Parts: sequence; C-alpha cells; structure tokens
Amino acid sequence: MKRARILGVGRYLPEKRVTNADLERLFETSDEWIQQRTGIVERRFAEEGVYCSDLALEAARDALKNAGMKAREIDFIIFATLSPDHHFPGSGCYLQKKMGISEIGCMDIRNQCTGFLYSLAVADAFVRIGMYKRILVVGAEVHSSALSFTNEGRDVAVLFGDGAGAVIVGPSEDPSRGILSNHLHADGRYADTLRLEIWDISKKPYITPQTLEEGRIWPKMKGKEVFKMAVTKIPEVVNEALQANKLKIQDIDIFLPHQANLRINQFSAARLGVPEDRFYSNIQRYGNTTAGSIPIAMSELLEQGVIREGMCIMLVAFGSGFTWGASVIRW
Ligand code: ACO
Repeated sequence: MKRARILGVGRYLPEKRVTNADLERLFETSDEWIQQRTGIVERRFAEEGVYCSDLALEAARDALKNAGMKAREIDFIIFATLSPDHHFPGSGCYLQKKMGISEIGCMDIRNQCTGFLYSLAVADAFVRIGMYKRILVVGAEVHSSALSFTNEGRDVAVLFGDGAGAVIVGPSEDPSRGILSNHLHADGRYADTLRLEIWDISKKPYITPQTLEEGRIWPKMKGKEVFKMAVTKIPEVVNEALQANKLKIQDIDIFLPHQANLRINQFSAARLGVPEDRFYSNIQRYGNTTAGSIPIAMSELLEQGVIREGMCIMLVAFGSGFTWGASVIRW
C-alpha cells in the first residue's frame, strides 16, 4: 500500500488584529494576566458577515498555489471545525460550492482542537487504499462570534482567535516519505469539561428564550481540568507515536503542537525533554485557532524553510471531548 503525503499547505488569517489591550476595554482583564497564563499577545477576528467556509476558501487557495494545483484536481474535501457556518449542512458543502468543484464528496469532522489530526488520519487512509488522490483537508474557525466578551466569559474569550489552514493529501511516489502513523484518542467522560451547549435536542423545542437568558450560547470551560489533562495526554501520545515508529525523541526534527495555550506546550515540552525551539509556537500572534492551528503553523514553517524534505515532524493536539492525537510525518 502506498503512503500518503502532504502535497501543499496554505493558511489564511483575517486582517483584523485584536490585542490584549483591546480586550481590556471590553471586560476586566490585563495584558499581563493573559500573557502570563496563555502567552497570547494578539489574535485575529473575522469581520461581521464572514463565514468559516470563507476563511477555509482562502486557506484552500493558498494550499493549491503551494501544491501547484488547480481546484478541479481536488477529488474529496474534509472540513474540520467547531464553528461551522450553520448547524447543517456541513461547512465542507459550502466550501465546495465556493470553490466551484461540485459533486466531489465532502465530509465535516467535529473534533475540536484535534479535528485537524482526525481529518488528516481519514485523508491518509482514503489515499492509502486508493479511494482518492487529491484530498483537501481544511481546519477553520470563526470563534469571535461565539465568545462572551464579559467578566463571566473572560476566561474563554481571551484564548481564541479566528483563522484557517489547509493541506492537500495525495499518494507519495517515494515510499520513505509521507505520513508514517496517526494516533487518535478520546475520553467522553470529560465531554462537559469544555463545551458549547447552545441547544439541547432532548428538549422540545431545543432552543428557547431561556437558552439565551442562561448564557448557554457561550462556551464553558473548566480551565484547570483542561490544563491538567492536556499536559498528561500530550506527552503520553507523543511517546505512543515514537514507539510505534521505533523513533527516539531526538529523531523528531520539529514538533508542531496544537496552539491551545503556550503554558500547556511549555509544560509538555519540558516533560518530554524537548527544547522549546523544537516545540513550535505562534499562539502569541493568533491565539487558539482550534482546528486551524496545526496547518497554519505548518504553512508558516514551510514558508520560512524550517520544514525541509527528509525531516521527521510530529503533530500533536489535545482539546474538547476530550480528544487528543498525534501524527508522524517524514517530509
Ligand atoms: N482576565 C483576568 N482574570 C481572569 C480572567 C481573565 N481573562 N479569567 C479568569 N480570571 C480570574 C478568575 O476569575 C480568578 O479570579 P479569582 O481568583 O478572584 O477567583 C483568577 O483569574 C484565577 O482564575 P483561574 O481559573 O484559577 O486561572 P488559571 O490560573 O487556572 O488560568 C486558564 C486560567 C488560563 C484558562 C488556565 O486554566 C488554562 O490555561 N487552562 C487551559 C485552557 C485551555 O488551554 N483551553 C483551550 C484548550 S482546549 C481547546 O483548544 C478547545
């Protein structure tokens, strides 16, 4: 069975920069508090009227350019997001329409911060069994519409930013290059630890004026629990991925972690004994862009020439669900 590899990578960040000082004007917080606990200096917010599929479209165009491909060469779309345009249909269908490539299959994956890794694993499997040859995998988020910029919502509101990243996955002609393995996990016992409830489908009707009054339209997070589990599960899954490939930590040229919080990544890197400069972070500039964060970082590193052919890179993520995972790639 052939390996799958990443043929192109792209990203898109909305122009509007929102600094910690901008947030200080909306609720009680401080630049010092935010930077100390999260590392975030600024994030990007999409303008009113911009959909998640709009950000995805720009990232997809950038990935196509990077791969030297045309949109019509894409034969399947996988869209990872927790902030879809609408409840249904999936944002993949909206993106497909915007790209003008109707009739190819589209799939949405709802696995939050690990959404990109779950999507990449599905794309990898589809390519390896020969089902598709050019899969567009997009991770995109418009968080800014679903954050409560109040004192009650401030713990979550400071963390997130909007953005999109995309990769194109296809067969690798060189058997030593490509996606080496994927490792996916979840623990639904923690499903309520970080969630956005909005509606309750067991209720008739499933949304009422009370939903708004009780603030159930905003995400709720038990931050300390998220932190503790993240710094346990990230090193665990990194070791699992290393063992599966008979690799040592020194064999990984660069780690590309999901950008949830700088301190989570610093803790995880320290536990693994990886120097911080090999555990990439750009959360300072973008905040947590959830499904977008790994492909955004990958696109930046490729552009800077940090990721080069032959390098071994590891992607790792942890987030709501809880879900977590890792992928190893020989570039
Ligand atoms: N600005 C100022 N003060 C704040 C803010 C804020 N934005 N948010 C909370 N506080 C206050 C709290 O009200 C509390 O005040 P009190 O002591 O008077 O009660 C105080 O700061 C400390 O609050 P804690 O919740 O104890 O703060 P903590 O040190 O745990 O940091 C944080 C909070 C940053 C959220 C931390 O728990 C964390 O990093 N958790 C991980 C969260 C995360 O990364 N989530 C995203 C990952 S999953 C995903 O990507 C979907």
